[in-house]
Amino acid sequence: MANTHNGPQGDLPIEILQALSQNSPILSSEAFPSYKSTEVKGALDRLGSRSMVTYDTIEREEPLLEPEAVGIAANGSHEARVFEALHKAMDGLTVSELEAAVGDKNVVKVGQGKAFKSKWIAKGKEGRLVASTDSIQDTTREQLEIIQKTSTHPDPKVITDLKKRKLIKMQKLISFKIQKGPKFALEIAKEETDLTADMIASGAWKSASFKPYNFNALGADQNAGALHPLNKVRQEFRQIFFEMGFEEMPTNKFVETGFWNFDALFVPQQHPARDLQDTFYISDPKIGDKPHAEDENDKADYDSYLKNVQEVHQNGKYGSIGYRYPWGEEEALRLVLRTHTTSVSTAMLHKLASQKGPDGRPPPARYFSIDRVFRNETLDMTHLAEFHQVEGVIADYGLSLGGLMEFMEIFFKKMGLEGLRFKPAYNPYTEPSMEIFSYHKGLNKLVEIGNSGMFRPEMLEALGLPKDMRVFGWGLSLERPTMIKYKVNNIRELLGHKVDLSFIERNPAVRLEKT
Ligand code: PHE
Repeated sequence: MANTHNGPQGDLPIEILQALSQNSPILSSEAFPSYKSTEVKGALDRLGSRSMVTYDTIEREEPLLEPEAVGIAANGSHEARVFEALHKAMDGLTVSELEAAVGDKNVVKVGQGKAFKSKWIAKGKEGRLVASTDSIQDTTREQLEIIQKTSTHPDPKVITDLKKRKLIKMQKLISFKIQKGPKFALEIAKEETDLTADMIASGAWKSASFKPYNFNALGADQNAGALHPLNKVRQEFRQIFFEMGFEEMPTNKFVETGFWNFDALFVPQQHPARDLQDTFYISDPKIGDKPHAEDENDKADYDSYLKNVQEVHQNGKYGSIGYRYPWGEEEALRLVLRTHTTSVSTAMLHKLASQKGPDGRPPPARYFSIDRVFRNETLDMTHLAEFHQVEGVIADYGLSLGGLMEFMEIFFKKMGLEGLRFKPAYNPYTEPSMEIFSYHKGLNKLVEIGNSGMFRPEMLEALGLPKDMRVFGWGLSLERPTMIKYKVNNIRELLGHKVDLSFIERNPAVRLEKT
């Protein structure tokens, strides 16, 4: 079995055909003993797909001598070697003389005991060992020689016994019983894989032999794309918003003017959040356009809106005394990477203000968005300079803070978070403002899950919304629930150049425990 062949492998199919032309069936182990069974199978499959041969696979087990047994077959068993050495010596040998004569201490150690048991040797004078018979039969060696020659032994008990003594092991052998197939021939005709225009024109198709389709072949791995975990969690959030009647806002603008990101939200121009440390300002171009309509359907009045914002900051309006500082338009037009998606919510509310419902007033609305925002933060395990904000706003008549709290209970319950706690907080654009906490069972403590509040009249009335229309909103990050769900501790493993692509390919679908 272990011998190798030197013939070119490409000839094997032809060799098989030639062998079959003389004799069918043939046994591969007899006809081609030097080929590996995988090589034979390859050749047979090639011939089989053309129906030139058929074959059956035969599996059998054969005993194989372990290295120690190969030694015994060549030199005799340990006990026989001990006996031979003593038999040759006239007056027997001491143990150390015996060791020297045999040339292997271990053989002497093992062989001595067995030779005593078989009464081949005995103790002589002065502690010397002597042979106690003239001839012995070395059965073990004979058995191993038979197995070595014939790959089997007529007595199955011998096989079992030698296996137990770890002198042989069983080896699986695969061979093939090969027969001529219906299209047997001595030559392998070239098979066409395509019917070409040339073949039709020349008529060559009539005599051509076509390769049959192999419907069992596995397709090549297509390496299809995989959704990022953030996208999967985002999809779950979108579903929750949709089932609660929300409309998705267009968030395809990463760069905004400070006007939409700050001023419209009643954030004063000297507010610390506008500082370079918190906000990324664009250096080229530095300045953006004044607020304006972006499509024909937008009938909102942008000029008076700009004026309203200036007045409410500078002098106060709508019953508010304002901030009383000189408001500057250039500051409002500086371009920033948006720090929240509330800029988008504000633009949407401005459009809402110009819409008329059945009663001639702006209709109630529910908007949401999930998209990227940017903050100039110190980077660490849980913070990058960008993240995805999940934001919702609800505009309706007669909304109350209690309504906001109840709505939060319902919304977060849909992702398995219950028993919320609210903590007073501050946003320039909401009053009251509340941080939302939920009890985290794993961490055994309350964790912050979002920020929320009732938008201020300074913001809403400047937009042109009716006095009695209330709007509340809330925001949270998409990264936090994703990291918890996918057990990612370092945000750099989720986003950025250190992300392991196989993590993206292997990660399972997400399931928020909706209750
Ligand atoms: N803009 C807030 C934030 O970035 C979220 C928020 C949205 C708060 C709407 C109140 C109302 O955290």
